[in-house]
Amino acid sequence: MTDGDPVDEVIEVIAQSATEIRRGLVGRREDADAENPSGETQAEADVYADELLADRISSIDGVCQYGSEERQETIDCGDEDGLSVGVDPLDGSSNLKSNNTMGTVFGIYDEPLPAPGTALVASGWILYGPITTMACARDGTVRKYELAGDERSLVDDGITLPDDPLVYGFGGRVPDWSEAFEAFAREVESDDSLKLRYGGAMIGDVNQVLTYGGIFAYPALEDAPRGKLRLQFEGNPIAYLVEAAGGSSSDGSGSILEIEPDDLHDRVPVHVGNDELIDRLEDALE
Ligand code: AHG
Ligand code: MN
Ligand code: MN
Repeated sequence: MTDGDPVDEVIEVIAQSATEIRRGLVGRREDADAENPSGETQAEADVYADELLADRISSIDGVCQYGSEERQETIDCGDEDGLSVGVDPLDGSSNLKSNNTMGTVFGIYDEPLPAPGTALVASGWILYGPITTMACARDGTVRKYELAGDERSLVDDGITLPDDPLVYGFGGRVPDWSEAFEAFAREVESDDSLKLRYGGAMIGDVNQVLTYGGIFAYPALEDAPRGKLRLQFEGNPIAYLVEAAGGSSSDGSGSILEIEPDDLHDRVPVHVGNDELIDRLEDALE
């Protein structure tokens, strides 16, 4: 139930859509005959999840804008000074064919998109794993829920990153990393208290960092200096949640949340995890 608070309403609508999105993956694992604004081929499920969420979120009172990595332009939904919701409807859709983890990522901003992460009032993700779960950050607290049917049950009402990091996962191809990032990655690999966990869907990899502590990065690449991940729909929402859980985010030099975007589909190098590891990363990239 929501008390009419539009932020709660958006979170509830996304949670309630999880079952239908998960069910709708069946039969939609092939490529659609279209590309997203980032020039990536869309899966049928990307389009399905986006249309379902756009329809439901844009009809919530108090929401004035819906933006998604699957749409060139935002949808204006009225309510001049309402909330702007940025969504990655299906993160890790390349994992569809291999039936690996995927997710839905959302950021709820109180400024028009494109907006800096400092304008976020809540963010979170749905994880389509063995169990469908939701992690949600609001007012400095991260809560985790299990979703089944229309039910959302709270399983943790104050998640913080464990003090002792355990996992690391770095995206992109090693030959495309900068020398400085590669040197940092080699240092992390040589730390016998850490182990590699990389599944190819940002949200599954970040959820492991939230659960076990550690670091996830999709860094700047030689041929893609702003990396691959999208600021509005991936970087900001996970940075907001990881920082609310006591960790840090960085684009290589400072918090991702401070970045002033130019375009709705700006990319950003993403590094999130335990403070000490992010500090070491920023020293390495100086
Ligand atoms: P999306 O499916 O929303 O486009 O996101 C995929 C992203 C992210 O989930 C993951 O970390 C990264 O792409 C993997 O990229 P590579 O295929 O280059 O490893
Ligand atoms: Mn994604
Ligand atoms: Mn996506």
